[in-house]
Amino acid sequence: MDMKVLLVYFSLGGRTKQVAERIAEGINFPDVTIESFEYTKKSRELIPEQDEIMKGDLSNFKYNESIKDLAPYDLIFYGFPTHGGRPATVFNGYMKDAQNLDGKNFVVFNTCRMFPGKTLEIMQTEIERKGGSIVNKRVFKGFFRIKMSKVENFIEELNQELMKLN
Ligand SMILES: Cc1cc2nc3c(=O)[nH]c(=O)nc-3n(C[C@H](O)[C@H](O)[C@H](O)COP(=O)(O)O)c2cc1C
Repeated sequence: MDMKVLLVYFSLGGRTKQVAERIAEGINFPDVTIESFEYTKKSRELIPEQDEIMKGDLSNFKYNESIKDLAPYDLIFYGFPTHGGRPATVFNGYMKDAQNLDGKNFVVFNTCRMFPGKTLEIMQTEIERKGGSIVNKRVFKGFFRIKMSKVENFIEELNQELMKLN
């Protein structure tokens, strides 16, 4: 049976989007759905709003509500930028309402300029708290740009490893 794969990302400046799109395209699964959160206000509004977002208020984001239910998927990718040493708060806001992570496999990645801090640990903790398992994770770091060769290496590694899940 072919696995159903979901990749969800958030990108303010386009770097995480570029990585996410490449991963979705590069992994050897025929059924990959890619979804994203779009912030509908000016970027500078995001930080003042972060307490509300953390609590689950995603009213200033445009996204497909169906991504809150992970039941249809076998493997889920989450890609978020690092904001202040942690994932962009939309990740936590989303996790508040996300359902049916139990028993699912996850791959998490983040992009940052220099210091990822606890970004992936926080993502992993939230996912595991809801019963999901992390099968792989990766930090993509680059001050000026993310090296796409690093992304290609990750895709290759995933393709070898994830075949075993299929
Ligand atoms: C509000 C804010 C906070 C950030 N905090 C960090 C940080 O703690 N560490 C870091 O290395 N980069 C930090 N960055 C840089 C972003 O993580 C990095 O540029 C990321 O790749 C942006 O992804 P995007 O283009 O998909 O939005 C921050 C950027 C913003 C806008």
